[in-house]
Amino acid sequence: MDLKSYLQSNIDRIDQALQQYLPEESVLPQSLHKAMRYSIFAGGKRLRPILAIASCEAVSGNPDHVLPAACALEMIHTYSLIHDDLPAMDDDDFRRGRPTNHKVFGEANAILAGDALLTEAFRLLADPRYTQADPQTVLQVIEIAARSAGSQGMVGGQAVDMESEGSQIDFPTLEYIHTHKTGALILASVQIGGLLGGAEKGQLACLTRYGEAVGLAFQIADDILDVTGDQTELGKGVGSDQARGKATYPAFMGLREARNRANELCTLAIDSLVEMGEGADPLRLIARYIIDRSN
Ligand code: IPE
Ligand code: IPE
Ligand code: MG
Ligand code: MG
Ligand code: MG
Repeated sequence: MDLKSYLQSNIDRIDQALQQYLPEESVLPQSLHKAMRYSIFAGGKRLRPILAIASCEAVSGNPDHVLPAACALEMIHTYSLIHDDLPAMDDDDFRRGRPTNHKVFGEANAILAGDALLTEAFRLLADPRYTQADPQTVLQVIEIAARSAGSQGMVGGQAVDMESEGSQIDFPTLEYIHTHKTGALILASVQIGGLLGGAEKGQLACLTRYGEAVGLAFQIADDILDVTGDQTELGKGVGSDQARGKATYPAFMGLREARNRANELCTLAIDSLVEMGEGADPLRLIARYIIDRSN
């Protein structure tokens, strides 16, 4: 299996679906829809929707049935990036190879574009035109998405990330930040893909262990790339974590230990899938890609 072509064909399919789900720029209010589309279609690895699709396939589900939810997860993620870059938060100027949303549309529009993407995501999750699963499963999916994005998920992690800037924190707090600001939505993507693919209880437990491990590994890799990465390749600024005194794995334990930890988590993720057949091969390859990537 060639991971590169697997990722690209899924990116194409996700982008096509997002084109369909997001209001056109000609729809009122035009400035708002323009700002939403600017960040959604700026590129991006589409990792969360791809994980949802790959998890659905790992349990022999039909990937078409997970596509709307996969796109909703990408909308939630993109909203989190727009807000993360705001002057009141990380104050970054580049994202996905372009000036950040607020640099182009202003802060108010960037805040509103994020708000709208978050809200549209939940509309999409609940839209009866797209939901293929039974109502109970749809409700479960909405609850997982909301929990992973809210105060005990991504936003909670962002809050602790912000209040920890410039201060010495202990390891449990560092792990809390990473598993929440980034791990939670990645875990939710895996679980939602599995649920919509018809996963049984045992399969869901395996996917959950996998999602927890890759979710944390992903943010450790992000921290490492902020130190060692190339700005052009990454499409965003580097060195900003150290400049802002962010709580990161490399700052806490050094680059070498951070790499070791990411590797251990990758192995743990792959081991979590031992009982699953070759349908889970994309998930196995994605676990490696998450820690070996250069962008
Ligand atoms: C960046 O996420 C922010 C984090 C949660 C670490 P990605 O690295 O997935 O960003 P895109 O979607 O590819 O731009
Ligand atoms: C961001 O973490 C996590 C979310 C956006 C929720 P970072 O602040 O490290 O992400 P980047 O490095 O700006 O992409
Ligand atoms: Mg941040
Ligand atoms: Mg940031
Ligand atoms: Mg970062």
